[in-house]
Amino acid sequence: MKEIRSVSRHWHQSRALPTIGYALAGLALVLLAGCDEGQSTMNTLVPHSDLTRQISDIYGRIFWWTLLLFIGVQGMLLYAVLKFRERGGEKGNPEQVHGNLRLEITWTILPVFILLHIAIPTVSFIFRSQADATPAEDAIEINALGMQWWFAFEYPDLGVTTANEIHVPLGRTIEVRLQSDNVIHAFWVPQIAAKRDMMPGRVNHIKFKAEKVGTYLGQCAEYCGDSHAFMRFELVVDTPEDFEKWVARQKEPADVTTAEAKAALPIIEGQCSACHTLRGTIAAQKTAPDLTHIASRGRIASGILENTPENLKRWITSSRSIKPGSKMTDGAKIDESATMNLSSEQIDTVVAWLGTLK
Ligand code: CUA
Repeated sequence: MKEIRSVSRHWHQSRALPTIGYALAGLALVLLAGCDEGQSTMNTLVPHSDLTRQISDIYGRIFWWTLLLFIGVQGMLLYAVLKFRERGGEKGNPEQVHGNLRLEITWTILPVFILLHIAIPTVSFIFRSQADATPAEDAIEINALGMQWWFAFEYPDLGVTTANEIHVPLGRTIEVRLQSDNVIHAFWVPQIAAKRDMMPGRVNHIKFKAEKVGTYLGQCAEYCGDSHAFMRFELVVDTPEDFEKWVARQKEPADVTTAEAKAALPIIEGQCSACHTLRGTIAAQKTAPDLTHIASRGRIASGILENTPENLKRWITSSRSIKPGSKMTDGAKIDESATMNLSSEQIDTVVAWLGTLK
């Protein structure tokens, strides 16, 4: 007996306590994950546009109805289990009941009512959010093209072309035309724009009005190949004044008269011009991101690296080790047959100029 008690105590200390501890720690982690108070811009529960707010409202409606149903069903179950449990002194089966018309009508009509309450707002929102083939009166149009693996953005009315970072003014309707010329991607900015596919051979539309100034993370949300997970972008919501300034600067060609420019031009107009555009130079290809104002962007390599000279050098030197399958070949000099074959000094020269292109 003594032995058993000691074993049992030992078991309690060695197994049960840690198990309960792990369970509590796990629960705490799950709960803490919900406590970012909107710090993370990937949190769909904190909407910052008219579009995501409407989705969040529907989500909330479904959540509360589901909770009510759960409590109702579990409550009735508990009631039945307690009330009709076997008591001492009872013999044989209880009285058998078959069918109850009133109850059956009730539990058919009640779910129909709840489903309608969820379905009507959901379906009407889906139609409202799709019916935007014609742009709103004062909408700013953006053409978004999904590439492998980055986003090309163009503002046709403003004459701005950029990549992996879009700016929009606060409170203005933005109409994004989503396209792809390769595989299917999906445009997703959790707090501003819901997921919508970018399809080859088809134009999808998404329309929203941002409600809070800030920088929001976006991510391709449709598996599209090797570097799908590294296909990100940023959406910056500016005040109308800041947006005007941004547009004015983005429209300008690059200044090619500086010393840094003169040193870098042979390489930009050589190797880089095979894929990139850099307005002000002869580089005008659209296979790769537009570099004209690359220094104005917060991140490089489609949102995966902070835009610093060190990261830019790393990226040009060995892009494929950072983003598997990248069409940008490693720039470092390997042998004379390599595509770019840039020496470390040449890469420094390019980085020095690109870093000035605000
Ligand atoms: Cu593009 Cu996933």
